[in-house]
Amino acid sequence: MFNDHILAILLTFLIGVSFASNATADVASPEMLANTCLGCHGPAGISQGPATPTISGMSELYIIGAMLAYKYDNDEDKIDEIIEADVDFEDVEFFARISTVMNRIAQGYTEEEIKILAKHFAELPFESAQQSVNADQAKTGAKLHETHCEKCHEEGGSSAEDDAGVLAGQWVPYLEYTMADFASGDRDMPKKMKKQMEEAHTANGDDAMRDLIQFYANKK
Ligand code: HEC
Ligand code: HEC
Repeated sequence: MFNDHILAILLTFLIGVSFASNATADVASPEMLANTCLGCHGPAGISQGPATPTISGMSELYIIGAMLAYKYDNDEDKIDEIIEADVDFEDVEFFARISTVMNRIAQGYTEEEIKILAKHFAELPFESAQQSVNADQAKTGAKLHETHCEKCHEEGGSSAEDDAGVLAGQWVPYLEYTMADFASGDRDMPKKMKKQMEEAHTANGDDAMRDLIQFYANKK
């Protein structure tokens, strides 16, 4: 009986402490913050739908760059100011991006929360989408990739280390509309990437982008 009583007091105390520490914590847990994202980006950030990208396994810097571009609607001066004011953002590169939903969603998060989200998704593993591919096109795409893209999208586009996203294993429809956004200028890219996109197009015409996409879709 006596032990039960002590235990009850102890439990009450511990629960009280844990509530108090929750109440004073000024940031939510990574899992709580990330929960909102999973409805669209899929369980554990692995997309189940063709138009939404998988975000797990990308680099922190890439995710932060994307979230800042979305949050501040590509306002370059504002984003530069934010990057300069925070040492954690020192190596973040800003590229303007068109958005259907992310510009609204990103506005709901502070810079500190964006850091937590980026770290969380960067630590989760990337998983390739299950989709059928055209092997011949993928083969031509592999050569184009090696010549024009491998320099910044290493390991056949599967490395996150370049802070250039993860291309290998993304959904074909997502890659298609992303390439179209780059081509139309709705999304910005590094000057050297633009040059390589043009060279790939000169080499293989309109099939170049299709074949590159099939190559990425084919990578596991
Ligand atoms: C309503 C659906 C939806 C929700 C919720 C959502 N996203 Fe997105 N996300 C998208 C879509 C669609 C895109 C493609 C860009 C666009 O059209 O806005 C995208 C793009 C992104 C990208 C760029 C990926 C790349 O390959 O460049 C990142 C990073 C991202 N989202 C992070 C998040 C995070 C973090 C959350 C949670 C705070 C979140 N998203 C919540 C739908 C969503
Ligand atoms: C000079 C380096 C460089 C080269 C060369 C390059 N890229 Fe990129 N690429 C980048 C960077 C940096 C980003 C990220 C831009 C951003 O943050 O929005 C990117 C982003 C992308 C994305 C968007 C990824 C996503 O998740 O939304 C695609 C698709 C892409 N590149 C395809 C290509 C293809 C195809 C080639 C070759 C024809 C190529 N890139 C060559 C640097 C490069």
